[in-house]
This record gives sequence, C-alpha cells and structure tokens, in this order.
Amino acid sequence: MIFYGIVVAAGRGERFGEPKAGLMLGGVPLWKRAVDALAEGGAYGVVLVGSVPGGIPGGARRRDSVAAGLAALPHDATHVLVHDAARPLASAALVRRVASRLAEGDVDAVTPAISIGDTLKRIAGERVVETVSREGLVSVQTPQGFSVVALRSAHAADDDDATDDAQLIERDGGSVVFVNGESGNMKITHPDDLAVAEALLR
Ligand code: CTP
Ligand code: MG
Repeated sequence: MIFYGIVVAAGRGERFGEPKAGLMLGGVPLWKRAVDALAEGGAYGVVLVGSVPGGIPGGARRRDSVAAGLAALPHDATHVLVHDAARPLASAALVRRVASRLAEGDVDAVTPAISIGDTLKRIAGERVVETVSREGLVSVQTPQGFSVVALRSAHAADDDDATDDAQLIERDGGSVVFVNGESGNMKITHPDDLAVAEALLR
C-alpha cells in the first residue's frame, strides 16, 4: 500500500462567516495542521486543495474539491486519506489507525467514528417530535481512507452531493468500516469552535 493524503481546504465557510482553512490555531494555519498530521502519520505526500499556499484550485462543492485532489494524485498512489482542513486536531496516531485498517486490504473505505453522547431528538419547527434512538448510530470524522480505484469509481458513479467521501462509496455499493476516532478531533464549523479548539490545544 502506498498512501497519499488529500487535504480539502476550499469552501466559503458560510456558517463560520469566512473561509476557514487559513485561520490560525496556536500560531499555525488550520490547513497546515491537517497536512502535518497526514505527513507524520506516514503519507507519501499530500495534495492540498484550496486557496492556500501550495494549494490547487478547489471546486464549488466539497466533493468537487476532493475530485480535484484525486485528479492530482501521483500515479503510484494505491490508497488515499481524505482529510478536512477544518479538522486541525486529528493526530498522526489516528492517521496510522485508518491507514493500518486500510492496509488489511479487505474493504474499500475506512472512516474514524465516535459514539454519540447526547440524546437525539427529531424536531419540526420549534416542536420536539420524538426521541431518536442512539442505537447503531455514530458520528464520523476525517481522515477517511480509500482505495484509489474505489474512490475514483464512486466519484464516476454519480454527481449527487455528499458531506463526506464514505457516503459516495456507500452509494456505489462499496464496503466501509469504521475505526475509533478521537473526541478531540473536532470540526471547526461555527465561530465558537475555534475557541474550543484553542482550549483543547492548551
Ligand atoms: N471544502 C472544500 N471545498 C468546498 C467545500 C468545503 O474543500 N467546496 C472543505 C473545507 O475547506 C473543509 C471541509 O471541506 O475543510 C469541510 O467543509 P465545511 O466545514 O462544510 O467548510 P465550508 O463548506 O467552507 O463551510 P460551510 O459549509 O459552512 O460553508
Ligand atoms: Mg460546507
């Protein structure tokens, strides 16, 4: 297995209020933290996508940015880990865990996942309609790992949007398994998240 990383760092950051990838966390830009985790975790190289130093142009949707990264992957890549610049606290150990599971060779995709602590409710407007069982549900993270062949085939199979890459594999009938994620591997989505990440870093 020869695995590379793709860090997606494009996007408009609408919920945050500005594009996020260039924001600083502990004096280091988010995109660089994501790249460093992949490199320290054993990636042969990292393709960076977005308007950041060393980045190639991204696309309108996240999956379009991933497709741009896939097109730029070196030819010797057999596997790829796709990671969000918006998850700057993923550890090199998590990268290795995803890569090791992928290296077993029996699945198309591997995603980190953590259990859900909160009680889940379905709502309609302001009304709470029902409690949704947590049974069998997990919350997933990046980096997600793939065989390059499977991820390219999943991209070719449809053009519907997806909030993560594993979803494309699921729709294409491929196999996805999870490994344990990290509670500290939070996603920077809303402005308050950056302060939480700063606190976690300290
Ligand atoms: N991303 C990307 N290209 C896009 C959209 C998102 O590369 N067209 C990347 C972001 O840089 C981020 C990751 O995908 O690292 C997860 O996306 P998200 O947190 O949703 O970022 P944005 O799409 O920028 O934010 P929002 O959805 O609030 O607009
Ligand atoms: Mg988005």
